[in-house]
Amino acid sequence: MTAFNAWRVHAVEVDGKKKTEARFDSVTLEDLDSGATENNEVVIKAAWSDINYKDALAISGAGRIMRKFPCVAGIDVAGTVVSTNDSRFSEGQEVLVTGCNLGEAVDGGYAEYVKVAGEAVIALPEGISTREAMAIGTAGFTAALAVHRMQQNAQTPEMGPIAVTGPTGGVGGLAVNMLSKLGFEVHAITGKPDQDGYLKTLGAMEIVNRNELELAKRPLEKVKWGGVVDNLGGELLSSLIAETCDGGNVASIGLAASHSLETTVMPFILRGVNLLGINSVNVPLPVRMRVWERLATDLRPDQLDQMVAREVPLAELDKVMSEYVQGTVTGRTLVKI
Ligand SMILES: NC(=O)c1ccc[n+]([C@@H]2O[C@H](COP(=O)([O-])OP(=O)(O)OC[C@H]3O[C@@H](n4cnc5c(N)ncnc54)[C@H](OP(=O)(O)O)[C@@H]3O)[C@@H](O)[C@H]2O)c1
Repeated sequence: MTAFNAWRVHAVEVDGKKKTEARFDSVTLEDLDSGATENNEVVIKAAWSDINYKDALAISGAGRIMRKFPCVAGIDVAGTVVSTNDSRFSEGQEVLVTGCNLGEAVDGGYAEYVKVAGEAVIALPEGISTREAMAIGTAGFTAALAVHRMQQNAQTPEMGPIAVTGPTGGVGGLAVNMLSKLGFEVHAITGKPDQDGYLKTLGAMEIVNRNELELAKRPLEKVKWGGVVDNLGGELLSSLIAETCDGGNVASIGLAASHSLETTVMPFILRGVNLLGINSVNVPLPVRMRVWERLATDLRPDQLDQMVAREVPLAELDKVMSEYVQGTVTGRTLVKI
C-alpha cells in the first residue's frame, strides 16, 4: 500500500526540555504498530474519528498521553476492514474501535488507515452508521459504561436525581441524554449556565451553575442526589459524595478540574454510597460488546445530531484542540477522514 496521512506525536527536546510535538506525517502500514499477535491483525480504512479531552491533551502537548514515540494520535476510529488475518472479521465489514490503548500505546485513529489487534475491534452494531459511532465514541462509551455499572449496582430513578458534572462536554452530555432517556431526573452541574437550552434539549431537568454551588462542608450533608456521574474530580466530587443517598452510586470518570479527591469514609460506611471507578480503555471484550449493544438500543442517545457541534477534516483537527484543553467546548466534534 502506498503512503497515507496520519497525525503523529513525536518526542522532541526544546532547550534541553523533553516535550511532545504533533505533525501531519506521511506514513505506510509498515510504520504502524498494531499491538497484534499472529492471526489477529485488522487493517481499517478510516471513515470517521472524533475528539476527546485525551486527544486534545495529546495533540496540543498539554498532557503526556503517549507511551511510545512516535505514535499516531486518536483514541477512536470507525471505518471498513480492508484486510485481515483475523477469522472474526472480513473485508468490507464496518467496524469501530474505542480506547484499547489506541493513540496511547499503539498507533491510533487519526490516520487514513489504522492497523489494530482484533480484540480491540467491535463490529458496527446494527442501525448505527460509522458517523454515529464516532459521534458516540469513547465519550459515549464511557457514559454508557458508567450508567451500565450504576444500574448493575441497583441505581433506580426512585432513589433521586442524578448529578452530572461537565455536562456540556462529550461524556457529560451523552450521560445526561442516556440517563434522561432511562427515566432518571438529571441535574446538570455546569460552568456554562448560558448553555441551559442545549442541556435541556439533551434531557436535563435542572441546570445548576457550578460557580454558584455551595459545597458540602461536613463529611455527610443533607441528601440531594440519588447518584452522580462525575467528570471533574476535586472538591466538587467530594461534595457530591457527601450528599448522595443511601446505596447511591457515584461514577468517577474524569479529572477535568482536578485529579485529587479528599473525602472521609462516612458516606461509605454510614450511607453505603458506592464509588464506581470507570475506565474505558481496558474493558474486557464481552463487556465492551454488551455496552455497544446497549448503545444501539436502550442507551442509544436520541439527541446525537444536536450534540455534534461540528465536523473537521483530518488535516485541520489541530485547530480546535485548544478549546478542549481550556474547557470551553460544547458538544462533540467529528473528524472526517
Ligand atoms: N475514565 C475514562 O475512561 C474516561 C473516558 C473519557 C473521558 N474521561 C475524562 O472525562 C472528562 C471529560 O471528558 P470529555 O471527553 O467529555 O471532555 P470535554 O468534552 O472536553 O468536556 C469536559 C467538560 O468538563 C468541564 N470542564 C472542563 N475543564 C474544566 C475545568 N478546568 N474545571 C471545571 N470543569 C471543567 C466543561 O463542562 P461544563 O462547562 O459544562 O462544566 C467541559 O465541557 C475528562 O477529564 C476526560 O479525561 C475519562
